[in-house]
Amino acid sequence: MAHIAVIGTGYVGLVSGACLADFGNFVTCVDRDTEKIELLQRGGIPIYEPGLEAVVKRNVRERRLSFTADFAGAVRGTRAVFIAVGTPPAEDGGADLKHVEGAARSIGRAMESYTVVVDKSTVPIGTARKVRRWIEEELENRGKDLPFDVVSNPEFLREGTAVYDFTHPDRVVIGGESEKARNLMKEVYRSLYLNETPYIETGLESAEMIKYASNAFLAVKISYINEIAGLCEKVGADVQAVAAAMGRDGRIGRKFLHPGPGYGGSCFPKDTLAVAKTGRDRGSPLSLVEAAIQANDRQKKLMVDKIEAGLGTAADKTIALLGLAFKANTGDMREAPAIAICRGLAGGGAKLRVYDPAAMAEASWRLEDIKDSIYFASDEYDAARGAAALVIVTEWNQFRNMDLGRIKGEMDPRFKPWFFDLRNIYGREETEKAGFYYQGVGR
Ligand SMILES: NC(=O)c1ccc[n+]([C@@H]2O[C@H](COP(=O)([O-])OP(=O)(O)OC[C@H]3O[C@@H](n4cnc5c(N)ncnc54)[C@H](O)[C@@H]3O)[C@@H](O)[C@H]2O)c1
Repeated sequence: MAHIAVIGTGYVGLVSGACLADFGNFVTCVDRDTEKIELLQRGGIPIYEPGLEAVVKRNVRERRLSFTADFAGAVRGTRAVFIAVGTPPAEDGGADLKHVEGAARSIGRAMESYTVVVDKSTVPIGTARKVRRWIEEELENRGKDLPFDVVSNPEFLREGTAVYDFTHPDRVVIGGESEKARNLMKEVYRSLYLNETPYIETGLESAEMIKYASNAFLAVKISYINEIAGLCEKVGADVQAVAAAMGRDGRIGRKFLHPGPGYGGSCFPKDTLAVAKTGRDRGSPLSLVEAAIQANDRQKKLMVDKIEAGLGTAADKTIALLGLAFKANTGDMREAPAIAICRGLAGGGAKLRVYDPAAMAEASWRLEDIKDSIYFASDEYDAARGAAALVIVTEWNQFRNMDLGRIKGEMDPRFKPWFFDLRNIYGREETEKAGFYYQGVGR
């Protein structure tokens, strides 16, 4: 089994490190965030991710997984170093590679023998070759001529189901040019390789492109059904029925046909922007992706318009927002539609009472700019207290089976009780029976 270092202990790095250890590898996770490393060393888990704690604990106990802030110590003596640092959007929409460069250079400064450097972060096409150059420069500075290979191994896990996704991937993609590196990757992923998980070997650029092409496709699919939902509302169709029937077509597929408040998270928004920029830069524009980005921005505004239109005006009304994370089962609020919706409603003069099962801590600083308009509630019933409208923004299971009578009883009786279900997790009939005025998306 291989000795591996993983640089970056965020959603991807920590899950990858823990699961690669579970596959039998010996993994050292390293991060420049010393607080995070100290927390991990004490047995804490810095993110909300179902099932992750058990995998981390098991592998720490069995001495296959450890955490350190010491780069050189982590990299020295390992055969593969995974780069799993963040690639946030730069001002021009492209991916900011400063963390990837930092990680690559630290590998060049620390490595002492043949190493396979694995790009797991989502990076623009051509980055693997840049990583090679950065490492070469550091080796030259040290007067060393050490052999190494760079491999692109994009990650497809989803937050909320990250452990399952990592251990049951639809495919493992390995881009690279060296047989030796490919063989090592087979060893690293041995459990999956033996399990007949589709194992796709490509060149570097193709592997980098696969990740962007996949995410952009999914973003287009979401924006597509969101626009169809808008049209359904205008023509009197029910998008739930439309999507269900469309999804039965094997060529279309049922997944990602759920209308909602727009996609968010740390991947789709930045990856669509980055690949669209690559398209423009290379003279091969991705007009569908550009349109999906615009449709997504519009979708978030449409949600605010929908709520304001129902209420007549949001000014001086109290609105309960249930769910702040960009999707269920995560505490991550990066680019969450809830942010735009909260700002839009607060901008219209509304007072917000918000609740999320896992994202409250993150919400308190992300929504700092409108903090005077927000009350952070202790649960969904507390959020509803004195509200004129209830808005479901994130599809947490906890919100799927609320006591509708009780929650309505908490609301301000002076107003018509609106129920805006931006995830279509309730039906008109059951909410109207409980005395609400219901509006979903596309129905
Ligand atoms: N989050 C997802 O669902 C997901 C899925 C697939 C791919 N990705 C991609 O994986 C990459 C990482 O995403 P994430 O969500 O895990 O990010 P994250 O922000 O949760 O974690 C990144 C970590 O890297 C650390 N870091 C940054 N620079 C460093 C350096 N020079 N040395 C050591 N550590 C450093 C940060 O401290 C942080 O802990 C991104 O490129 C992202 O696009 C993310």
